[in-house]
Amino acid sequence: MMKILLGNKGDVEVLLAFKGQEGLEKHNELYTYLKKKEIFKGDLCEIYSLISPNENVIFLGLGDREKLNLQSLRKAFYKVGKELMRLKVESAKVSIPKFENLCYKNTCMAIAEGLLQSEYSFDKYLSEKKNKHAVKEFYLDVLEDKKERAQEAIDEIYNVIDGIFLTRDLVNEPAIVLTPKELAKRAKEELEPLGVEVEVLGKEKIEELGMKAFLAVSKGSANEPQFIIMKWNGDKNSSKKVALVGKGITYDSGGYSIKTHEGMATMFNDMAGAASVIGTMKAIAKSKIEKNVVALVAACENLISGEAYKPGDIISSMAGKTIEVVSTDAEGRLTLADALWYAATEEKADKIVDVATLTGACVVALGNVNIGAITNSDDLMKEIKEASELAGEPVWQLPSNEEYKEQIIGTFADLKNSGGRGAGTITAGLFLGEFVNNTPWVHLDIAGKAYSTNENGYLPKGATGIPVKTLYNFVKNA
Ligand code: BES
Ligand code: MN
Ligand code: ZN
Repeated sequence: MMKILLGNKGDVEVLLAFKGQEGLEKHNELYTYLKKKEIFKGDLCEIYSLISPNENVIFLGLGDREKLNLQSLRKAFYKVGKELMRLKVESAKVSIPKFENLCYKNTCMAIAEGLLQSEYSFDKYLSEKKNKHAVKEFYLDVLEDKKERAQEAIDEIYNVIDGIFLTRDLVNEPAIVLTPKELAKRAKEELEPLGVEVEVLGKEKIEELGMKAFLAVSKGSANEPQFIIMKWNGDKNSSKKVALVGKGITYDSGGYSIKTHEGMATMFNDMAGAASVIGTMKAIAKSKIEKNVVALVAACENLISGEAYKPGDIISSMAGKTIEVVSTDAEGRLTLADALWYAATEEKADKIVDVATLTGACVVALGNVNIGAITNSDDLMKEIKEASELAGEPVWQLPSNEEYKEQIIGTFADLKNSGGRGAGTITAGLFLGEFVNNTPWVHLDIAGKAYSTNENGYLPKGATGIPVKTLYNFVKNA
């Protein structure tokens, strides 16, 4: 990874310009010329590079001065990172002014994040690697009295990026490799050296706990289910505890309510919620966050076999509530029901956040812009919202009127696992809410956000690593 350092050296200088800005302190003659000729206008993410034996400069557009925010800095510096790679630059620098309305530390963090984001690639299976040139050093020339804060920002963003890249690597890994056991193994390998306690329960232990809903989903696969418990005790003086619960379906074929081949194609990413809580634990442990956090993953595959569960089955759950299986493709909520009940009753968490690629309906409702959210606690939702805004990972709360619950009341069992087409994301969320034992809880549906079919801003094609930043910010301030 590129080294981001404080200082005023580097082969190439990045110069910042807002749209329509009058002049620049450095290279003003060239800037004015480019502006007059409309070669460089200062639009957000616009880049003009001059790399030569004598002069080495990159103009970077920041767009309208009034519209500048952390998200635009991330995007702009992602572009810079890519450009430096393309031009085979060894080292570069930028001097960072105080932007109006933006906290200086957050500014430095967003710039560093954009640069580091540009280096991600999942190329372990490619014979020819993608990032052939690595930028060695990038210097941030910061205000004299902000050096300490800037260094803190840099140190912290490296930890968060490590968490994001781990999440992406796990999500991008195909299901032939990333079985429930492999997911548990990776969680152990990544987290134990950082001081996170990782305990993995196999099928027998899961049976002893009575996680019947989780077990029902897992039955169709030859790969055993695994329940992964990860604990970070960063505050020994407090009994307060946050639980992060991630959906960990390592492959979702739909089961007997089988998906179409198009619908199934990328369903190896149906453990993105799990990957995001594992990645968040990595960032938390590396930053030694002084909070107590437990991350929980009920990992299994949703497949078809002579032993698989079937539509019409009536199953039970760890909570004791019975469930009619309307669709074996609504499997995520069944595994999460038991994991949430465990978080509330065995871990006795004070706050629970679950993350899941739960519904196609969420992709229809919110596309790839917002994460969908459901809660039983407006206070907790406020905390999540603040964390997500700072992260640049927008969250949209959906309504959860009591009336929606009627859709998931069962006929011959307490609940049913599908409420039909209408309000699919809401009814899925409310189903989960039946298993938190009244603990303050927020559900995040990342179905439209976890995985992308194209490069988008500073996010790569494939796994995005969302919502690691949101969860990290949330835990830090919990
Ligand atoms: N993993 C899917 C949801 C999904 C779909 C995520 C598309 C990302 C992209 C989930 O298990 C599922 O199949 N949900 C069903 C629920 C329905 C049967 C009530 C759905 O959304 O169709
Ligand atoms: Mn499904
Ligand atoms: Zn699924």
